[in-house]
Amino acid sequence: MDKTTHFGFKTVAESEKAAKVADVFHSVAKKYDVMNDLMSGGLHRVWKHFTLTTSGVKAGDKVLDIAGGTGDLSRGWAKRVGKSGEVWLTDINSSMLTVGRDRLLDEGLILPVSLADAEKLPFPENYFDAVSVAFGLRNMTHKDAALKEMCRVLKPGGKLMVLEFSKVWKPLSPFYDFYSFKALPVMGKLVANDPDSYQYLAESIRMHPDQETLKQMMLDAGFGKVDYHNMSGGVVALHKGYKF
Ligand SMILES: C[S@@+](CC[C@H](N)C(=O)[O-])C[C@H]1O[C@@H](n2cnc3c(N)ncnc32)[C@H](O)[C@@H]1O
Repeated sequence: MDKTTHFGFKTVAESEKAAKVADVFHSVAKKYDVMNDLMSGGLHRVWKHFTLTTSGVKAGDKVLDIAGGTGDLSRGWAKRVGKSGEVWLTDINSSMLTVGRDRLLDEGLILPVSLADAEKLPFPENYFDAVSVAFGLRNMTHKDAALKEMCRVLKPGGKLMVLEFSKVWKPLSPFYDFYSFKALPVMGKLVANDPDSYQYLAESIRMHPDQETLKQMMLDAGFGKVDYHNMSGGVVALHKGYKF
């Protein structure tokens, strides 16, 4: 009997989750960027900007952007590492990756792009100075395996940055719940004609490990030290894991 896991609030066989997540992102890819701006009121740009500016990534670094989707972080990494560096835009979903690749090309950025599952990364060990995963870990079936892979491909001294929805400050919860479960699916219906994908978004956030649990998961995956920074009252947290 297959083990089970969560797909939002539903319990599904582990073997089914990746295909369900793939359906979500094939469906939303073309409207993903506009929905991101709309749903977060532009805040996702601030969260990503904070990730980039506090990363310590510098000219010449090698950076892997996992679950990079439409390429927001990859674009930021490319500007930071310059011509002497290397940035890989990767994602498991061809629709998201196509939108991301085309968008970066339109901006004159030619990066290596790879269709890659975070749970089985096609990169050698000890290769990257930094690895990022923004709003991607939540969707992965075996988060422990994915975190181990992220640790494996980092050089000793390298850093993983996990930007992800997290546990909100309690007084904010009623407002956040109302917004997530009432407003988001309506926006998803009106803009992307896909309320179900945005219902999944709200549910998957609630099922994702909180700040301390994720920190422990990163330590268990092999990181020597992990710290995190809450943003927007814990709506989002940036975890940084350091490979010793
Ligand atoms: C919410 S989007 C985030 C895109 C981008 N990082 C951003 O912050 O805008 C989540 C992405 O995770 C990707 N994803 C889900 N499971 C994955 C896996 N196992 N390996 C790699 N990417 C995965 C999805 O295809 C999707 O593009």
